Amino acid sequence: MDRIRIVGGRRLEGTIPISGAKNATLPLMIASLLTKDTLILDNVPRLADVSLLQRILGNHGVDIMVGGKRPGGKLDDGQTLHISAANIVDTTAPYELVSKMRASFWVLAPLLARIGEARVSMPGGCAIGTRPVDLLIMAMQRLGAQIEIDGGYVVARAPRGLKGAEIVFPKVTVGGTHTAIMAATLADGSTLIENAAREPEIADVALCLNKMGARISGAGTRRIVVDGVGKLSGARHAVLPDRIETGTYAMAVAMAGGDVFLQNTRADLLQAALDVLTRTGAAVTPTNQGIRIARNGADLRPVDVTTAPFPEFPTDLQAQLMALMTRARGTSQIVETIFENRFMHVQELARLGARIQLHGERATIEGVERLTGAPVMATDLRASVSLVIAALAAEGETLVNRVYHLDRGFERLEEKLGRCGAAIERLSG
Ligand code: UD1
Repeated sequence: MDRIRIVGGRRLEGTIPISGAKNATLPLMIASLLTKDTLILDNVPRLADVSLLQRILGNHGVDIMVGGKRPGGKLDDGQTLHISAANIVDTTAPYELVSKMRASFWVLAPLLARIGEARVSMPGGCAIGTRPVDLLIMAMQRLGAQIEIDGGYVVARAPRGLKGAEIVFPKVTVGGTHTAIMAATLADGSTLIENAAREPEIADVALCLNKMGARISGAGTRRIVVDGVGKLSGARHAVLPDRIETGTYAMAVAMAGGDVFLQNTRADLLQAALDVLTRTGAAVTPTNQGIRIARNGADLRPVDVTTAPFPEFPTDLQAQLMALMTRARGTSQIVETIFENRFMHVQELARLGARIQLHGERATIEGVERLTGAPVMATDLRASVSLVIAALAAEGETLVNRVYHLDRGFERLEEKLGRCGAAIERLSG
């Protein structure tokens, strides 16, 4: 199993190219199930989750050709996927595959909308809390699907097609909003989605679906209207930049000190997080091509932050901010409101010398003078990258074990940080 070795204390200087967003790529790939025609996606990140979803879609009969592998092609440009779901051979998504990646449960919606049936395994346990799918099921039922739970599988049927309806989410859910939109594109009549998630990835997927012939308005706001159409066609779409990768490297620079340009990204995708970084004392300068982040010598100031749905501070940057605050001059508070039990990184950060106390959903972080390197264990995607951030400022060597979690969501992390001067390497085997 690969490990990552980091020797802390180096400043970061240079440019980091930001990849396409994982959390848009996955639903975009799933949206290909809605049409017989080819969907072409550009700026797709090279991630383990993308490869896994390729396998999952392959199981349904989807053909995926990966372009962009020409000799001399630059890795920074992202991949191009040509996805064709002309022949759906199987409407079952088995446990072995769905349990590896929760988002694959979302295939339920396009299969139901296009074929009128789907049998998808419940996602099962997850390292960050219970993460139920009740609201996704509710949305499908509102659109007229008959749902049964059979042997751990959600069996959904709509033999006469889905019908437009009003869907009111009692709680903001990204997956619920994606699936409601996808299902409604091919429903008979109009669908109103209230209290929709406003994450930029929702708007990006809706933009692509509209290029495919869907009629979606209001994506990116709380209220989305989808007028159903008879069929969707192919399209070409470039995935938007990854705001979580952007925020992660921004925090890495704030932690290590230095001056780095985050290229091919946009400040409006993560304004709340950039505002927090400015409060900590980092200099944040957005430009047309990206965002410049610098911190030169000044102490880090503590902050109080609560995670919440977009446009507030994202839960997917909570662990990284906590790592940063371990070195602040003073005490910070971070409240996690989206996922229970998303504090697995706390114990590992403590191994590096961090002082963090947990009371329910609130973490109190008392900044320390120094962190010291140690062997640590990656527990989930965001937690593992928080350990990398802490290690950049720790004295001596940190070995991060189980880095397959990192590879799920961060493309060539060690290369991107290494090019900016970090002492970081992957140890294979
Ligand atoms: C997506 C993101 C994930 C991010 C999360 C919150 C992708 C691939 N993943 O996950 O990185 O951390 O949004 O921004 O885009 N809930 C229910 N019932 C449901 C569905 C959700 O109670 O049926 C709850 C969840 O337990 C959680 C909250 O709603 O407390 C938000 O979850 P949701 O927005 O659905 O997260 P995901 O779509 O799984």
